This record gives sequence, C-alpha cells and structure tokens, in this order.
Amino acid sequence: MNAAVSTEKTHEPAPACLNDVRDKMFDSLRTTSLAPLINEISRVIGGGKMLRAKLTLTIGAASGANRDDLIRAAAAVEMVHAASLLHDDVVDGGMLRRGAPTFWQEKSVSGAILLGDLMVCKAVQMLEEIENRRLGGLLVRMSAEMCDAEVEQELVTRGAPGDWGKSVSMIRRKTGSLFAFAAAAADGRNGPRADALMEAGYQMGTAFQMADDLMDASGKGELDGKDLGQDAARGKLTSVSASNTDQARARHSITDLCQTSSGLLAPWPPVQAAWLAYLKSDMGPVIAKFLS
Ligand code: IPE
Ligand code: IPE
Ligand code: MG
Ligand code: MG
Ligand code: MG
Repeated sequence: MNAAVSTEKTHEPAPACLNDVRDKMFDSLRTTSLAPLINEISRVIGGGKMLRAKLTLTIGAASGANRDDLIRAAAAVEMVHAASLLHDDVVDGGMLRRGAPTFWQEKSVSGAILLGDLMVCKAVQMLEEIENRRLGGLLVRMSAEMCDAEVEQELVTRGAPGDWGKSVSMIRRKTGSLFAFAAAAADGRNGPRADALMEAGYQMGTAFQMADDLMDASGKGELDGKDLGQDAARGKLTSVSASNTDQARARHSITDLCQTSSGLLAPWPPVQAAWLAYLKSDMGPVIAKFLS
C-alpha cells in the first residue's frame, strides 16, 4: 500500500475547517423558526465525532476541490446523519445519545421527527449553490438508500434469523451510503476518481457499521455515549446477530474492507495517502477494538 503523504496542501487541515462546517449547519437553521432554540439543539448539530465531515475535508484537501464546496458538502452530509440519528433513536427506543438523554426523551417524539425532517430539507438546500450540481441529487439518492435500509431493518427483517449476506447488504445501504456521499463529494467533480471514492466510502462505512454492531453486542455502554445491547433486545438483524461465527467474520471483514477501500484509490497516490491518514487518525480509533 502506498503510504506516501501528499506534498500538495491546498487547504488548512480538516479540524480547522470543522468549525466552519458546524457554523454552516447552525446558520441553515438560524433562518428557520428554530432560531430561538438554537442553543438547545447544539448537541444534535455537530455534537458527534463528525466522521463524515472529516472524511470529506481530509480527502478534499488532497483532491484539490473547492474549499467552500467541501464545507457545504460536509455540512450537508452531517445534517442528514444527525437527522437519521434523531429518527433512529425514536425507532430503536434509544435513551442515550452523545452522552446525554436522546432528543425524543428530552423534548418529544414529534419534535424529533419534525427536526429530523427539517434538517434533511435544509441539507439538500445547502447543495443548491454548490459548483458540482450533481451532488444534490446524489445526497437525495444516498439518503433514500439509508432510509430504505432502516425500513428494512425495522419492518422487514426484524425477528428474522441471522443472515450474513442479507445483513451486509443492508448495512452497506444503511451506513455505507452517507460515507459514500462524503467520499465522492470530496472529489469536487465527476469521473473515475469520484466513482472509486464512492465505492471506497461504501466499504469503509460498511466496516464502521460492523464495528458498531459488535460494540452493541458487547454491551459496553461507556464506549460511545449511547445505550447498547439494544439490537438483540429488539430482534434486529445485524452483521453479528446470527452467531459467534458471525462476530469473528465481522472482525475479519472490518480489516478486509478497510484494506480494499484504500486499494481502490491506488491510481491516485495523494488521495490514497489522505485515505490512509483518515483511516489511521479518525476511523482507526473508533474501530480498533473490533479488528481481528
Ligand atoms: C452512529 O454514527 C450511527 C451509526 C451509523 C453507527 P456515529 O458514531 O458517526 O455518530 P456520531 O455523529 O459520532 O454521534
Ligand atoms: C443506525 O444504526 C444507523 C443509521 C443509519 C441511522 P444503529 O441503530 O445501529 O445506530 P446506533 O447504534 O443507534 O448509533
Ligand atoms: Mg440505533
Ligand atoms: Mg437503528
Ligand atoms: Mg448500533
């Protein structure tokens, strides 16, 4: 694997831009009826690990994409992700998120649904001004995939016996989709490199959800500020719901998917180096406990 580091630095590093991403998210809601409540929802907006935004910013710094477009795309994908968590906690009966009571617990189920809907619409609106006009449609398609997989997990496969192939296909769409968007958006234009980034994003997002499934099965709640042990309790089909064999298989797959994702980017060494740096610094600490 080529671990060379890009010498071409076009932007400030990702952490510096993260505040701009958070500002963009807040600004999009300041123009709505939520303005008086904006401080109360600060945990919902930009309060997580920002893994998808960091992916767009880190890869975007190596691809040479327009900085303002990267910030808009990063904010948009984090808005959809945050909305998905608002809804997911209602669906899963989640009580704890990001180390605090979930939004539906603190406010109401209706509030969580409505805020989630508003955030998705605002995310799509954010991409209207972006140079790459394709991104708005891509975000809608990836969000639809994510919602479709959430529907499948709740309404179609709940209580079904474990099925490795089915669960992997489901989590690729459920969680891989937004990582795919975050990676493709980092390219700044369309073409083979954006396509490779999109597939690499799907693979890394699938690995991330496998680690999350393992974390839930481990039941160690202090790990990520959310209540765990819920998947089995609610009869969810996950990558590890079948048996201990699937837990071992998931651990191996996490390693494999991370490796193949970076291998896809070999034709573009600076981008591949940025991918490896993200894997090491941002994704690595989250999934490290679950590697084989
Ligand atoms: C949680 O995602 C939901 C999954 C897809 C597993 P994150 O772990 O990225 O959530 P935050 O944004 O950091 O809270
Ligand atoms: C939800 O998966 C992922 C989404 C796309 C919303 P989970 O239900 O496993 O996420 P957590 O564990 O509650 O964060
Ligand atoms: Mg959940
Ligand atoms: Mg869920
Ligand atoms: Mg989970």
